[in-house]
Amino acid sequence: MMTSEVIQELKGEHQSFLKKLEKIFQKTQESGFFEDLMSLSLFRTEFLQLNHEVSSRHHEKEERLFEALIANPIANQGGPRCNYFMQQKMMNDYTKKVDDFWKEYTELKLEKDALLVEAQTKGSALSIPLEEHYYLRKLVFMISFEVNLQMQAIDNYRSARIKDLFNLYKAMLMSHIEKEDQCLFVVLEKLTA
Ligand SMILES: [Fe+2]
Ligand SMILES: [Fe+2]
Repeated sequence: MMTSEVIQELKGEHQSFLKKLEKIFQKTQESGFFEDLMSLSLFRTEFLQLNHEVSSRHHEKEERLFEALIANPIANQGGPRCNYFMQQKMMNDYTKKVDDFWKEYTELKLEKDALLVEAQTKGSALSIPLEEHYYLRKLVFMISFEVNLQMQAIDNYRSARIKDLFNLYKAMLMSHIEKEDQCLFVVLEKLTA
């Protein structure tokens, strides 16, 4: 498949994720949502299903694409929109917010994968989306961990935590998708033009 076709497919998947994410989010706005076993179990099913599509299918496909382009100078070029997103990242760094939570979960471990380490070592611009994939996985780990505990014994403090983690996941995934659609994929499409 040509790079441009893969990009079109990835963009289509982004739209479907945004719809599913919004649908789950709407449900979580009901009062006491994370304190009710039925809602929690529905949330767990829907959230993990979405994560499976995002992380195991979509991100894997992107990572295969990025892997082939890591050394390509065009892939490392910014575009006009990319500067805007770099500024956004400096003002509102989601990875830092994730790590503030992650520090509390010493029992959870998640190693960086080889491709992210390679991209960071080579100073590739593709390390930014790859790092975000890694941080989204960290969020899913924490959410699953808390939801499982919550289903064993309901705790008010924990329901606030799950809500905070899920809202952060939502904000980070939306910003990640926006960056890929508006900046990264625009740059990568130049490769096939
Ligand atoms: Fe991505
Ligand atoms: Fe994506």
